[in-house]
Amino acid sequence: MAAKKYLIVGNWKMHRTARETAEALSHLAQRWSGARGVTLAICPPFTALTAAAKILSNGPIRLGAQNLHWEEEGAFTGEISSAMLRDLSVEYVIVGHSERRALFHEDGPTVAKKFAAAVTHGLKPILCVGETEAERESDEQKEIVKRQIREALRAAEAPENFTIAYEPIWAIGTGRTATAEDVQLMHGHIRNVLRECGVAADRIPILYGGSVKAANCTQLLNRPDVDGALVGGASLRNDEFLAIAGLAAELAKREEGVEQIES
Ligand code: PGA
Repeated sequence: MAAKKYLIVGNWKMHRTARETAEALSHLAQRWSGARGVTLAICPPFTALTAAAKILSNGPIRLGAQNLHWEEEGAFTGEISSAMLRDLSVEYVIVGHSERRALFHEDGPTVAKKFAAAVTHGLKPILCVGETEAERESDEQKEIVKRQIREALRAAEAPENFTIAYEPIWAIGTGRTATAEDVQLMHGHIRNVLRECGVAADRIPILYGGSVKAANCTQLLNRPDVDGALVGGASLRNDEFLAIAGLAAELAKREEGVEQIES
């Protein structure tokens, strides 16, 4: 079996101007020269993408956006298309974040259109799924996540280059995280759902998101089906984000050692 690789994505949400982004990313880029088995990506706000692209170009840190519109162009005031993102060297795009679903009324069909547009235009969508607290209490989380994935993938033709982020809504920005066991159970379930959808599930990174920080990331990343993290609040502090990246690098190194012994 190939050694596990980790993808650690910072979702900055609506934080930082272009100038603040340039400052924060210059420091981050100085301190991260890459590590085997770990990919770092940062998703700043749209208005800071140009500044971010300039600093990150030719370096190991990848650039992502937090949202997109599914049409290529047209009368859609305030929206941003895939082509506009590609033009700024954006590689990843978050799709269906629970804040967009809840606060901006993005429903399943909308998320599906965005996901398909990202795939069609060569962006790598990070599809967010996850249940509410009430849904978990009534033990519906597996059904909810399955429905979200099936719905999102429906419109995309043979998607390959995408990522799933499992983010239980009750864990986002709350300081509460799901237990590593619960996360592993859900990620295993997600891989099965992907398989049922005809996707090469073993090649799809499945990230966990929801109050990830350096203090809890090792136990989460250590689980077999956890391929990385989508980090909100903690990604706004370079020290903390780099600590998470460093811990992922240690795990990746260990995995590689194990693989060499096995082969
Ligand atoms: P959090 O956010 O790490 O602040 O909980 C995660 C996310 O919303 O992607």
